Amino acid sequence: MSVAVDFADLVAIALFIYGLHELNSPATARRGNRLAMGGMAIALVGIIVQTGGTGWPSVVIGIAIGGLVGIYAALKVKMTAMPQMVALYNGAGGGAAALISTVRYFTAAPGANIDAIVAVSLVLSAIIGAISFSGSIIAFLKLQEVMTGRPITYPGQQIVNGVVLIAILGLGVWFVATLGILPDWAFPLLLLAALLLGVFFTLPIGGADMPVVISLLNSFTGVAVAITGFEINSTLLIICGALVGASGTILTVAMSRAMNRPLTNVLFGAFGSAGGSEPAAGTGGPQQIRATSADDVAVMLAYASKVIFVPGYGMAVAQAQHSVKALADQLEKRGVKVLYAIHPVAGRMPGHMNVLLAEANVPYNQLLDMEDVNSEFPTADVALVIGANDVTNPAARTVASSPIYGMPILDVDKANNVVVLKRSMRSGFAGIENPLYELPNTSMLFGDAKASVDALTAAVKAV
Ligand code: TAP
Repeated sequence: MSVAVDFADLVAIALFIYGLHELNSPATARRGNRLAMGGMAIALVGIIVQTGGTGWPSVVIGIAIGGLVGIYAALKVKMTAMPQMVALYNGAGGGAAALISTVRYFTAAPGANIDAIVAVSLVLSAIIGAISFSGSIIAFLKLQEVMTGRPITYPGQQIVNGVVLIAILGLGVWFVATLGILPDWAFPLLLLAALLLGVFFTLPIGGADMPVVISLLNSFTGVAVAITGFEINSTLLIICGALVGASGTILTVAMSRAMNRPLTNVLFGAFGSAGGSEPAAGTGGPQQIRATSADDVAVMLAYASKVIFVPGYGMAVAQAQHSVKALADQLEKRGVKVLYAIHPVAGRMPGHMNVLLAEANVPYNQLLDMEDVNSEFPTADVALVIGANDVTNPAARTVASSPIYGMPILDVDKANNVVVLKRSMRSGFAGIENPLYELPNTSMLFGDAKASVDALTAAVKAV
């Protein structure tokens, strides 16, 4: 039986790895998810068989409860609430790793079952899992706006965090040195300190930086789970945890790079607000801008040969993706070539624009990454910026004092005409003015993105 379970684990692992590989492209991502789901089903059956006899009813009940919560969340949670859902799931993973260690510790006869490897893995998975659990809960509360999304800072914060970290390290070393033979209060104190560190570490980070933090905590959870695998001797957990740990780390680094901000700045810079829309800060003087109307823009679009749509966070807020696709269809009927420019950190979560546009059935081959689309702008008749702001800000190229200086941006200003759809002159996430709006080739179409795009579609039909 054990060989059959090992084989099932191997198949599950292969499906997870191949499933992850399929997530490389939106065209194969759904299949990747289904393959990974199949892998998970096989792994779960393996666990039921492995627990055998008395153990399986509780496993089946756990799977049923988890499955129902998952189905409910998948059906009910809105796309804009995905980051907080991921935070909750991630917290559950970290919490599970910490719980396994806690149970293992309290059920082992003192010292008897704990050798050095188990002692190290037990204490590490308890610490990292607990940090990931409480940090993810704070990330959830910030994104769900149950608590303020602003960075919460106070004098001496880093010193307090440092003291808690030192306490954790001290208790952890003591635990390993004594192979778990500690006074009764020591392990609960270790867990409490790790939970506190997760909270303290996440509080000073602004709500809009949370996706990066969630991705980092996700890698923590992966590491905690992999270590738990050593503790309970499960190859499946070791490999799955390593996959989550590695992909979370890669994503964290990729997001920081795309914002041109070192990870230390995200974690310790107390940057950003609850999600932007502060009055713009920058040059100080009133911006020279040109407002336009849907009818004027429609004429420009209808007679264009190439139009590039530049979606951003505002498209997600307005849920304008279906309207955007309808406008693209209308333009294509007239022979206009339509492309979509996708910035890696447009919106508020990785792949945010890809997911929304895929939901609206935009063909994948029209979605161009920043590196590919930037050479298209100089030959585009119109760049239609739909609720994007920071990712189009030319100050990132030219103003050395700008907080986003050096961040790679979409070169929309190089298009022959730029039309910006937003509601006001408020800033985006970075809280800064956008000189794009003052350029002679730029005009502003004010209003909710969905309403504006619908008005454009109607006006194009009428041209
Ligand atoms: P932002 O710079 O945040 O700008 C979004 C703009 O959308 C705002 O200026 C806002 O202006 C407008 N808007 C909001 N609701 C709207 C609506 N209903 N209709 C029309 N417009 C609306 O967005 P972006 O260009 O996508 O850039 C993303 C920012 O988030 C970057 O700074 C990035 O570094 C940061 N960030 C991204 C991620 C990931 S992983 N994507 C993670 C963390 C941080 P009005 O209020 O005037 O309408």
